[in-house]
Amino acid sequence: MKTLLVTGGCGFIGSNFIRLERELDAELKIINVDKLTYAGNLENLADLKEDGYYLFAKGDIGDAAFIANLIAEHSPDAVVNFAAESHVDRSILDSGPFVQTNIVGTQVLLDACRKAEISRYLQVSTDEVYGSLGAEGLFTEETPLAPNSPYSSSKAAADLLVRSYFHTFDFPAIITRCSNNYGPYQFPEKLIPLFVSNLLADKKIPVYGKGENVRDWIHVLDHCRGIDAALRHGQVGEVYNFGGNCELQNIELTKLLLQALDKPESMIEHVTDRPGHDLRYAIDCRKAKQELDWEPQVDFETGLAETIKWYQENSGWVERVRSGEYRDYYQQQYGDRLSES
Ligand code: NAD
Ligand code: TYD
Repeated sequence: MKTLLVTGGCGFIGSNFIRLERELDAELKIINVDKLTYAGNLENLADLKEDGYYLFAKGDIGDAAFIANLIAEHSPDAVVNFAAESHVDRSILDSGPFVQTNIVGTQVLLDACRKAEISRYLQVSTDEVYGSLGAEGLFTEETPLAPNSPYSSSKAAADLLVRSYFHTFDFPAIITRCSNNYGPYQFPEKLIPLFVSNLLADKKIPVYGKGENVRDWIHVLDHCRGIDAALRHGQVGEVYNFGGNCELQNIELTKLLLQALDKPESMIEHVTDRPGHDLRYAIDCRKAKQELDWEPQVDFETGLAETIKWYQENSGWVERVRSGEYRDYYQQQYGDRLSES
């Protein structure tokens, strides 16, 4: 692989993935396409110099002409699609952008890639497409799709489009489905970065309902390593699940965060539950182990301690994200070099 097109590379997982790819192969040319929504932050990759091997292009995966031109210009060998609206609570408030980017955007990107005869396409999906588990059992790649939130339905719709392109057009696509990620550069709206940044600012932390819901936590670098393995060694037409083998009730996780930051339990505020809140996610990742030789490497205690430290040491990043100031970075960084779209 000589040239890789990554979409959504200014978000949490995409930026970690681009940094990992850069470390793995200094000669890989990476083109990062990102619309820079509220979740897209150029500062996440401020340490990468734009040179012959890394290029940022501001744009929308749903913009067919833009994507076609970019692909024609750079002839990528592979495309990894991270670009998405990613937060369940926002999808409950307004599902419009989720349908637009996650479904229509994916369809436009797929068509552009198909016309350009891209040799490999990887769709970054989520375990949430499988719906919710009860107290027992794990999601496998064979679990039927039963998404419950507007977010997970839009991701499932995209997965079905990807599947259909493989079956109908022999389009060389792979789908990966991962559990809840944590790590550096996560926008402080998801549980871990929200609670850590609130606690660091001595603000209360909103636990939905009783906090009995269970999530399977995985370090973002383990997810990125899984995507890399699927991209390089996965079989087209296949789905690969990734998980952290680390199930925790939200309230257990919350207490770990309080302990780590030496804060009292009175910082917890139990707030009204999320509508349609999925009870439990947990992943069986034996297929990824058997077929990709992948398994999670970061143990949760270490990963969480490092993540908390990152948020402590990067309070400026959190402040700029929270104030919205990070959005000025584009102007500072690019000024009139690029036009706003
Ligand atoms: P994120 O919200 O941090 O980042 C999304 C990125 O996509 C942002 O940089 C945003 O600007 C960009 N984007 C949004 N709409 C776009 C568009 N129309 N065109 C181009 N760029 C656009 O999300 P994340 O947490 O990094 O998630 C990345 C992907 O991984 C998503 O597809 C998500 O569904 C999936 N995923 C996330 C998790 C998780 O725990 N965060 C778990 C499994 C799968
Ligand atoms: P989140 O990080 O939004 O990920 P997802 O909904 O995709 O799993 O939420 C993780 C869990 O934490 C989920 O059960 C909802 C819960 N939660 C809270 O209790 N309070 C919060 O403020 C947030 C954002 C989430």
